[in-house]
Amino acid sequence: MSTVKKTKSTAKKPAVKKPAAAPAASVATKAAAGDQNHGGAEGSGVRRRDFIHVAAVSFAGVGTAAVAMPLVSQMSASADVLALASIEVDVAAIQPGQSIKTSWRKQPVFIRNLTPAEVEEANKVDVGSLRDPQTLADRTKPGKENWLITLGVCTHLGCVPLGAAAGEVKGEYGGYFCPCHGSHYDTAARIRKGPAPTNLVVPEFAFISDTVVKIG
Ligand code: FES
Repeated sequence: MSTVKKTKSTAKKPAVKKPAAAPAASVATKAAAGDQNHGGAEGSGVRRRDFIHVAAVSFAGVGTAAVAMPLVSQMSASADVLALASIEVDVAAIQPGQSIKTSWRKQPVFIRNLTPAEVEEANKVDVGSLRDPQTLADRTKPGKENWLITLGVCTHLGCVPLGAAAGEVKGEYGGYFCPCHGSHYDTAARIRKGPAPTNLVVPEFAFISDTVVKIG
């Protein structure tokens, strides 16, 4: 019986075939071992190459970000400019004879509530005698000729004229005075004296209610 068992056990041995499988495993093991042994330098070389590759990719990423940032900034600037394309101002608190300074597209804007006397003064001027011929009606809205809205930028070299704030000099014609080179504007902000070539610029504007004006 025991012989039979030995025979059976002997017969089973070929089926094991582990020696055939073992070499493959051992080859793989040796290969791995080889990489670790004589490949110590090679393995670290691979890692070094990987590092260089990663570093290069990272640098490229930083470069892309550095290029992208100005583009994003430019896009933001454009958005800001678009947001300032127009402004709305409630002028209800501006009494006749008073002015305010506001800002539109990064330029000063004067909003002036002319008194009846200032309107009359502007209307009695011979328009043909003006350097830049315009009537008060040309520069205001129908029914609201008392609301004079202009850029606060002298048309000579771009100084901000005086006359909008309380107590400021209004010049010889009661409107605005640019002290830079002595330009005088009248009550319709038309150039009357001095080197400025044209009247203060009237921006595009419209009353969107009785007291709210939209500029731009
Ligand atoms: S800038 Fe106003 S007079 Fe020259």
